Amino acid sequence: MAVSYKELGLVNTREMFANAMKGGYAVPAYNFNNLEQLQAITQACAETKSPVIIQVSKGARSYANATMLRYMALGAVQYSKELGANIPMALHLDHGDSYELCVDCINSGFSSVMIDGSHLPFKENIALTKKVVDFAHQHDVTVEGELGVLAGIEDEVSSEHSHYTDPQEVEEFVKSTGVDSLAISIGTSHGAYKFKVKPGESVPPLRFDILEEVERRLPGFPIVLHGASSVLTEYVELINQYGGKLENAVGIPEDQLRRAAKSAVCKINVDSDGRLVFTAKVRETFALEPKEFDPRKYLGPARKELVKMYKSKNESVMGSADKA
Ligand code: G3H
Ligand code: 13P
Ligand code: ZN
Repeated sequence: MAVSYKELGLVNTREMFANAMKGGYAVPAYNFNNLEQLQAITQACAETKSPVIIQVSKGARSYANATMLRYMALGAVQYSKELGANIPMALHLDHGDSYELCVDCINSGFSSVMIDGSHLPFKENIALTKKVVDFAHQHDVTVEGELGVLAGIEDEVSSEHSHYTDPQEVEEFVKSTGVDSLAISIGTSHGAYKFKVKPGESVPPLRFDILEEVERRLPGFPIVLHGASSVLTEYVELINQYGGKLENAVGIPEDQLRRAAKSAVCKINVDSDGRLVFTAKVRETFALEPKEFDPRKYLGPARKELVKMYKSKNESVMGSADKA
């Protein structure tokens, strides 16, 4: 039986993005797969009074189970209230790869979906995105589309090379599809290995010129940045200190994301940073407490560190703290 996100206490992204646009900040979109990640996101956003988009990929949805997810989202909304916060929360499908998946998510409590047709020819991307929008809007669910390709792995969609969004395409795409937000490619990339830089070299700056041209062509329209983890050095080092082997892991500098968040970028996606924090603390506990085998004793410290990292992102990168 179909369930509406409204019954779960969730909201779509429309008002969130309107407020973010006016306020010059970005709503954090944090990926999760399990209980501890969702607890940490909820606690961090409740304590910093930040609106939040909790998002799951197709892979995460099949890992966690669709029914479990629905009740986890309901639980997250209730938990944030217990923590004394009334923060807007959206449940979003990240990188939806088909109309059928988007429909299934909408029927099982998602308030927002992404249809990622970025790998398709322009006209096919428009047709697929429009089909999803037509269904989603009947249910007051918001839709994110994408133009331009990010390097890295996007669930089922993987690409070795990026190509930047062509600003000349954005008006036709938005007008013909009716999408509510648009993900663009300006130099971010998925995963923990975003750039190949030699020692002493800095990472190439994001293409703010493309972003500005998109903003000029779509005034007041919400833009989304994927692949926006900073790949925080302290956690990469901790992973390597305790037996990991992450070589040349590099992310997007926080000051560049802060600059983007002040523009029409209303949603910033972060998955890899959460994975790195989690892995670093689990590895540390295993190394320092080799006799420990109670999952709460190694997942607990990982969850605690995640809360710290998400709070810091809301405060210093997204600018979303105290905006709920
Ligand atoms: O953009 C991709 C997200 O980080 C999700 O990754 O498909 O491995 O869950 P995943
Ligand atoms: P990162 O891999 O940089 O965290 O990007 C996540 C993302 O874009 C999810 O859609
Ligand atoms: Zn992404």
